[in-house]
Amino acid sequence: MNHTTNPFIVKAYLSKELFCDRENELNVLHRNFNNGINTTIISPRKMGKSGLIHRFFDDLNFEKDLASVYIDIYATLSLKDFIKHIAEAIMKRFPEKTKTGRAFMKFLKSLRPVISFDPFTGQPQIQINFQTEYESAHTIQNLFQFLDAQNIKIICAFDEFQQISKYPEKNVEALLRTHIQSLKNVFFIFCGSNKSMMSEIFTSANRPFFASTRLLYLDKIETTAYKKFIQHHFGINGKQISEEAIESVLFWTKRHTFYTQTLCNVLFSMHHNKVSVESVKEAMSEILTENEPYFFQYRQFLTPAQWNYLIAVAKEEEVTQITSQKFISKYHIGTPANSKRIMKSLLEKELILEILSEKETCYRIYDVFFGRWLQTNF
Ligand SMILES: Nc1ncnc2c1ncn2[C@@H]1O[C@H](COP(=O)(O)OP(=O)(O)OP(=O)(O)O)[C@@H](O)[C@H]1O
Ligand SMILES: [Mg+2]
Repeated sequence: MNHTTNPFIVKAYLSKELFCDRENELNVLHRNFNNGINTTIISPRKMGKSGLIHRFFDDLNFEKDLASVYIDIYATLSLKDFIKHIAEAIMKRFPEKTKTGRAFMKFLKSLRPVISFDPFTGQPQIQINFQTEYESAHTIQNLFQFLDAQNIKIICAFDEFQQISKYPEKNVEALLRTHIQSLKNVFFIFCGSNKSMMSEIFTSANRPFFASTRLLYLDKIETTAYKKFIQHHFGINGKQISEEAIESVLFWTKRHTFYTQTLCNVLFSMHHNKVSVESVKEAMSEILTENEPYFFQYRQFLTPAQWNYLIAVAKEEEVTQITSQKFISKYHIGTPANSKRIMKSLLEKELILEILSEKETCYRIYDVFFGRWLQTNF
């Protein structure tokens, strides 16, 4: 059997070769880092934030006296969890045989942790029991100071950073801001998806913390670059893909990275040596059928009016005037107030994506495949 590795990644970052473009964004990250500036990366979900961080770290791997630490805090529920995740990430990054690793172990032992190893991944797992909030706050400070004292530059990326707003402790942002600002050798990337992160920035009383970082908005990958990337990877694997087929892929997936990658992945797996627009339709249909159970589940959590509204937005592809008479009467939405109310609830559920631009605000179905499914089935 021929086991060609599928070059279209739909999971975690693998290599520079399988990563498309983002040259401008990488330049910004390098420039910020070289100038001692922290960066906040924001984009809609599944646009490629985490991938970009790993791609950036791949560049930094070769630099001397520099270490990168990636910390995904999606699963954290409290400051205590946050500390645990940082400590585990540091342990993973600096094994005990390194100088920093040994120093960290010494530091960690003063916190009387319980350390175990995941039997499947071999990764360290740390349990620290804090008696008081003061103790954990103090530990954060010590952790950062420990990193700052290592005589190397360290760059820490906190992925899914918006999670900190859900911690029960009230002062997390202020606490982090205070400690982060005083560091000389440690730099940060904060990363999160649009809505949650934006509202965090603009509603937070501690806004100066975010104002002290540069904002990097991650948009879609540029069309020409994505076309070339797709063509290249089919080509070097002995498959021909027509220009029209590539355009069709980018059209159906709206160039939203995860969806484009998924469609290309399925197309690549279909064993067609010549990939045409027909193959794209076939692959699309396979994906929609496979996901149908999920799409029906959405329906269970929505009122008929909300469901009807999603169909309306999907049919329109993109909506700019949600209170216009034309839109409201075409889809029997009722009144402008109704339209606003339903939109608000669907934005909160992240079923609709709000795209802000200088010119106007427009709305589309967040999950691109779900939108395509609604368009074709209703
Ligand atoms: N430039 C790229 N080239 C190829 N694949 C990419 C690129 N950027 C991201 N991907 C892939 O697309 C998928 C989504 O990217 P990623 O997980 O980085 O998005 P995200 O913005 O972090 O999503 P979330 O908001 O859900 O955390 C992943 O499978 C990733 O490997
Ligand atoms: Mg991510």
